[in-house]
Amino acid sequence: MKKYNFSPGPTKINESILEKVEENILEYRDTGVSILEISHRSSDFADILLKTKENLRLLLDVPSNYKILFLQGGATFHNAFIANNINKNYSTSNLITGTWGQKSYEDFCTVRNTKKIILPNKEIEHYLKILQQQESQKIDYMHITSNETIEGIQLREFNHINSDLIIDSSSDIGSYKFDWNNVAYLYAGAQKNLGIPGVTISIVRDDFIEENSNPTYLNLYKLINKDSLLNTPPTFSIYVLKLVTDWMIDLGGVDYFESQSIEFSTQIYSLLNRFSEYVSLPVADYSKSRMNIVFNFKNELHEKLFIEESQNNNIIGIKGHRSVGGIRVSLYNSIDKSTYQYLMEFMETFFLKL
Ligand SMILES: Cc1ncc(COP(=O)(O)O)c(C=O)c1O
Repeated sequence: MKKYNFSPGPTKINESILEKVEENILEYRDTGVSILEISHRSSDFADILLKTKENLRLLLDVPSNYKILFLQGGATFHNAFIANNINKNYSTSNLITGTWGQKSYEDFCTVRNTKKIILPNKEIEHYLKILQQQESQKIDYMHITSNETIEGIQLREFNHINSDLIIDSSSDIGSYKFDWNNVAYLYAGAQKNLGIPGVTISIVRDDFIEENSNPTYLNLYKLINKDSLLNTPPTFSIYVLKLVTDWMIDLGGVDYFESQSIEFSTQIYSLLNRFSEYVSLPVADYSKSRMNIVFNFKNELHEKLFIEESQNNNIIGIKGHRSVGGIRVSLYNSIDKSTYQYLMEFMETFFLKL
């Protein structure tokens, strides 16, 4: 039975990619072994690694003075890892727009002094302008979460911030174009827009990499020097990342996914606005996420019914995070037009019946 998967991650993978995976699990090309069995030191894997990096560089328009690295430990690992790889002489701050940014801040605090800046959802636009002008108390590195997956809050205009940025872009990487000019380090777990769990993409500007005495796997300098092969990398997750990025390039790259996500999210938000008698939207227009659409029913019984009926219609993954409740529809890159239309029809029919 086909399910319509709007999960916040891990999430849907396009069927054409799953077919390729299936084929290569049995035998990878003509190697006589499965993709699950190939050595990370083999020339076949070297090709996969190189091609995946080339794909990401092309898709995300990564400038030549940045390195691309594949690590394990998820985005969670990165919080303390990155805080620990910034020279203690530099000042840092953590911009908090939701749960994941708060978690990053807490981990930063375990290894260094850092300034906490909380941006209330309704005032993000206003405060971004202030951060842009802050010349006198300039902070060297600022950590931000470009998309807060739980609250549905997105910060796309981060180029305006007058600091070098460390960005957790786990839940919106590859969904819009941005400028790299103030980005020092960007990281993202692959399991939402770019593939499956197990690999974290990290993109790092050359001047950010400093030699230090951290233990081996906590040492960005050593990891970069070994080019993702310091130890055994997550070979299968990297292979799926390659297939997903091939597929994205074939469809037209980030431009394609950006216009798709603008179209889908705009339509869903406007449907919700039409039925504002029944639902409320907690996020200000400026920072409404195109990836995670969060809303609340005004009547609890309606919410229960919505979830029940969505399940009966084979729609899964739309319950809000347990910490905030409500509904969350995730519209990552793999949500195609027909899947999105199915959801829209379901929602409209539901609201009209209330
Ligand atoms: C924005 C963001 N950051 C970090 C995480 C944690 O990621 P991981 O499970 O890869 O550590 C998530 C997980 O959903 C997330 O959405």
